[in-house]
Amino acid sequence: MTLLLISTAFSGIVAYLITRTIYRLYFHRLSGFPGPKIAAISFLPEFYHDVIRRGMYIWEVERMHEEYGPIVRINPREIHIKDPFYYDEIYAGGARIRDKDPALTISLLTPHAMASTNGHEQHRVRRNILGNFFSRRSVTNLEDVIQEKVNMLKGRLLEAFDEAKVVNLPPVFAALTADVITHYCHGGSRGYLTAPDFKNNHMEALDNLFTLFHINRFVPPLARILERLPLETMSKWGILSGTLGELIETRLQTRRQAAKALTSPENKTSGPETLFQALAAESVPAEEKTVPRLEDEASVLFGAGTETTARTLSVVGFHLAKNKDLMRELRDELKQVMPYPDSQPTWSQLEKLPLLGGVIQEALRLSYGLSGRMARIAPTENLIYNKYIIPKGTPVSQSVYFVHHDPTIFPNPKEFDPERWIRASRDQVNLRKHILSFTKGSRQCLGMNLAYAEMYLTLAMFARNFDVDLADTTEDNIQLGRDMGLPYPREGRFSARVRITGVIKD
Ligand code: HEM
Repeated sequence: MTLLLISTAFSGIVAYLITRTIYRLYFHRLSGFPGPKIAAISFLPEFYHDVIRRGMYIWEVERMHEEYGPIVRINPREIHIKDPFYYDEIYAGGARIRDKDPALTISLLTPHAMASTNGHEQHRVRRNILGNFFSRRSVTNLEDVIQEKVNMLKGRLLEAFDEAKVVNLPPVFAALTADVITHYCHGGSRGYLTAPDFKNNHMEALDNLFTLFHINRFVPPLARILERLPLETMSKWGILSGTLGELIETRLQTRRQAAKALTSPENKTSGPETLFQALAAESVPAEEKTVPRLEDEASVLFGAGTETTARTLSVVGFHLAKNKDLMRELRDELKQVMPYPDSQPTWSQLEKLPLLGGVIQEALRLSYGLSGRMARIAPTENLIYNKYIIPKGTPVSQSVYFVHHDPTIFPNPKEFDPERWIRASRDQVNLRKHILSFTKGSRQCLGMNLAYAEMYLTLAMFARNFDVDLADTTEDNIQLGRDMGLPYPREGRFSARVRITGVIKD
């Protein structure tokens, strides 16, 4: 009897798999699209390369494009297009409706945040609440705070020089970006810039969580469990210590701030000052004013506002340490607005310097923002690519890496070449439209202005004041080798260790 049951169940599963395979190959609405049959019938190749081999499907996708051309069905439900001139169509804005793909946002573990909001309309409501908060004008008003943190960072780097210490740039710059974003959003810096050895357990824990990025995509129940962990109990019983323990404490602190913002009466009278006050303002729809919503939004802003900017700054730091001529040229240019090492030019003065601008664009190009595919869904229109009609509702993606490494746009794409931006401007070529680190369209990075202000002010201080050498670091430590949602090198963690070899006196 048991044997009969098992064999019936087995036959049922086999019949189901055969039927599904035939359907996906011949009757599915994507069946006419090019690509390997194994990827059309199952998620196994993606699972194998992204989960088992950790973040390697990006290279399989690259290989598929070499074999099948610019448009490929990379799994049963998703189309990937490798054509830089089609990016704006996928990641559109304005009146064009674009949803996010729920299969991706689940990995962010913050279901109530704007960045995890799948539907276009709900996203617009959430984005409108914060739109002005990160406008150019608001960030310009914040410049003094950024400059104050930049000065603190300079002090810490001088100490590192005196003590002949090697510093790892990502946590160094993350201390600055974390203190700026917590000052702005949470109403007070968390003091990362004063932490011994720039220790930032919270960022380390987030980095660890990103190693689960693909597992969460393929095993949504795991993501749901992680989202619902009883943090209060875990904290009370001290279940997790170290970096994860700190992450939990930060989450709980954010939760308390969220609850306070929702109940504290002063929020309802004065204009928004902190992120929490903006999110709890009277004009915000009632259903948006819940503790999980505020907690998730603040947590995403902290992570997004810290890590990506710090990585981009670290890519610059690496190349300035590697290329002494570039460091010298940049310093000479900076002297136009920084006659002394402790001069404090404004963001808009620094923006006028072509080489500094080129250095920043080149670092954005080679740090990519997110390496994940970040598919978009057009729910109300079919997209047309060459002879292909992509049915509405299909997840469509284009990895930033492929555009930023397209040799027809960026010759010698692996080379860090800030001069290409000066040449492009002289030849009136608009290269910037191909920099997609902040993505484009309705879901474009909200913190772009803040990121630029931080990068300009920090790099000016860094290059005008310090000479640095690489310490035990090669290009392999900063290059994208694995796509874990964030770019990871092939081995270990993203890192750029330098030794400060000189302090500039004049
Ligand atoms: C160089 C620095 C930065 C890079 C490369 C970057 C990159 C990105 C990218 C690629 C996205 C889109 C994600 C997606 O499509 O799913 C994004 C969204 C976002 N970023 Fe940034 N970011 C940077 C700095 C910042 C800063 C400083 C903040 C802080 C305010 C921030 C806050 C956000 C938020 C809130 C979103 C979600 C926007 C939305 O869903 O409408 N980012 N960022």
